[in-house]
This record gives sequence, C-alpha cells and structure tokens, in this order.
Amino acid sequence: MEPRHWRDNSLQSPKRRSNAVLALALVGGLAAMAPTSPAHADDAIGPLLPPNVRAMLLEEMAAVLGATQMILDALVRGEDAVVAEKAQAIHDSFILEQQMTDADMQALLAVAPAEFVELDRAFHELAASLAEAARAGEQARQRELFGEVVEACAGCHARYAANLFPGFTR
Ligand code: HEC
Repeated sequence: MEPRHWRDNSLQSPKRRSNAVLALALVGGLAAMAPTSPAHADDAIGPLLPPNVRAMLLEEMAAVLGATQMILDALVRGEDAVVAEKAQAIHDSFILEQQMTDADMQALLAVAPAEFVELDRAFHELAASLAEAARAGEQARQRELFGEVVEACAGCHARYAANLFPGFTR
C-alpha cells in the first residue's frame, strides 16, 4: 500500500517514492531515539520552521480542514462514499510523505519532537480507519472515529500550535 500525495492524482515518481521511504526511515529512527517529553505550553512548531516548510504545513492544514468539513457534511447525509474519499485523502496527505526535498525533511525533523511526528502519524492512521469504516458502510463507527479525528486536531493544536490558536492557552 504505497501512500501518495492526495493533491497529486498521478502516481509517485520512483524518486519521490524513495524520498518517502527515506522519510519514514528517518522518522522511525527519530521516534525510536527520542524520549517522550513532558507537556509545555510553548512548544509551537510553526515559527521554528523554515518559511517554505512552514508554508507546506499550513497548506496541508488548510486542505485537511476542507476535507474534514466535507466529511462532516457527508456524515450527516449518510454519504459513505464521500466520507471514504475525503478521509482517504487526509490519510494520503501525510506531511512527511509530501514532495519535500531531503533538506526540507531534515529541517522539519530538526524542529519537530518525536511526539509531534507520532501525533501526525496517529492522526493520519485515524483517517485511514475512518475511510475503512466508510467503505464498510459502518455509519455509527464513522461518527465515533470522526469524534476522535476532532480530538486529534485539537490535541495537537493545543500542544504545538498555541501560537496560532491562543484559545488553547490557559
Ligand atoms: C500533529 C499535529 C497536528 C494535527 C494532528 C493537526 N494539526 Fe492543524 N496545525 C498544526 C500546527 C503545528 C499548525 C500551526 C503551524 C504554524 O504555526 O505555522 C496547524 C495549523 C492549522 C490550521 C491553520 C492554517 C492556517 O493557514 O492558518 C488549520 C486550519 C488546521 N491546522 C486545521 C487542522 C485540522 C482540521 C486538523 C484535524 C482534522 C488538524 N489541523 C490536525 C498541527 C496539527
């Protein structure tokens, strides 16, 4: 099951695919090495990123919000096929599998703690589970998983994006 960028309908080039594999290897290694750090209020990731990498993250977030809104609309209409398509699109947009150069990747990993990488990975896996429930026509399960998706968005923002969302600051 080869992930591909959801804004790109063509299959990944071999070069890009190898970058994605490298990214996963790097992330896996980082996650294995770094201990889980305790929560801090000032862990904002965005301002630490090089502008082009931050722009990629924000672009993905805007697209993820759009997909999430369409999923809510489809959930209340019982349109399983739309839920499946949009949730799969979120899954496939995994930021670390985008067309980042190796240098971009290094810049992100230099700034992002292992927990952030893990939250991002778990979030995209959740989206895959939602797509699966939709393909299986399990509507109550879809609504349950959608609630978990919202938890994942807010949980990561409260921890790593309070710079942008001060409503999470206490
Ligand atoms: C793993 C962490 C993580 C998850 C999960 C996550 N986000 Fe974000 N999001 C961020 C970070 C970090 C920023 C702020 C980046 C910055 O400061 O430049 C952000 C910013 C945003 C923005 C602002 C974009 C802009 O251009 O101002 C939106 C909208 C957004 N996220 C939506 C979502 C939605 C919707 C979900 C869930 C469906 C979600 N995010 C899940 C980390 C996450």
